Amino acid sequence: MSVEATVEAPANIAFIKYWGAADLERAIPLNPSISMTLRRCVSRTTVRLIDEGRADEVFLVGEAGDLQPCTGSFRSRVVAQLERLRLWSGTRNGFCVATRNSFPAAAGMASSASGFAALTVAVVHALGKPTSAAELSELARLSGSGSASRSVMGGYVEWPTEADPDSCRATQLAPESHWDLRDVVALVQRDPKTVSSLEGHVRAPTSPHFARRQELLSARLDVVREAIRERCLERLGPVLELDAIELHLVAMSSVPAIFYWSPATLRVLERVRRLRQDGLEAWSTMDAGANVHVICTPQSEPQVAAALAATEGVHELVRDGVGAGPKLLTESLLPAAP
Ligand code: PMV
Repeated sequence: MSVEATVEAPANIAFIKYWGAADLERAIPLNPSISMTLRRCVSRTTVRLIDEGRADEVFLVGEAGDLQPCTGSFRSRVVAQLERLRLWSGTRNGFCVATRNSFPAAAGMASSASGFAALTVAVVHALGKPTSAAELSELARLSGSGSASRSVMGGYVEWPTEADPDSCRATQLAPESHWDLRDVVALVQRDPKTVSSLEGHVRAPTSPHFARRQELLSARLDVVREAIRERCLERLGPVLELDAIELHLVAMSSVPAIFYWSPATLRVLERVRRLRQDGLEAWSTMDAGANVHVICTPQSEPQVAAALAATEGVHELVRDGVGAGPKLLTESLLPAAP
């Protein structure tokens, strides 16, 4: 049997961050979040159905297209998601999965959102099950990577907190054609982070600043929605930078404390502040890591990139922008089935 699908799904960068879970296993967030789906930072995943009862196989695809068996906690998370999707679809087939990221493997960039979005969408296509974007969002969320629920859609996406956790799905606020924003990512960290975002969600409520951030979020979300609607970076920028700094404030004051920043993170933040003093529209945000995403207009992008490339401690730049969401590809990452 050879029924398969290959899907490329993007990462996303949140303007208002998901930080703190009501139910970690099902990734039910304690606060709504809003993100921009990226274009170039993607995971590409092939899923092939294999015989009923056969164990799932999971491979990472190397630079030369070679397949390496995937081990450790990432494999366990993939297999757990395959099991959920088996239950959802009622199939008894096993799955053979091959996956690769477009962004540098050891760059410390979050890949779980794109990875689990690509996996989920590829399984659904391999099974030939028509599924709405809203349902895909919920299925991706069940992987435990909450941000994956936003990566199944393009453009600007909101993932609300619902009274009914079982219908906690993202919705698109605007397609990518609505507003051409850029994200220049300054990579300052080569190694994977030491504390996962999953652990961060657990520790978040132990910070004395957590509850205060929750109180402030409703007004902040209104500004972000409106700024996206009006394509106003002057209004969006200060809020997205503030929210990222507050995520890190909460992380640094959690028990035990989590410090994601490196000295180069601060240097980039400072450089971006100076760019603004020079009249450029550019604003910083960070996920659970040391790397800095600088959100800017297409006009500012060349100057932002030049300034970041010249900043001490920045070892690589990824120049990305708003993207259209997952797409189905014809080219497989698996060798032809016998
Ligand atoms: O989806 P998770 O569990 O990896 O959490 C994402 C956490 C942040 O990237 C820091 C914020 C966000 O909303 O993407």
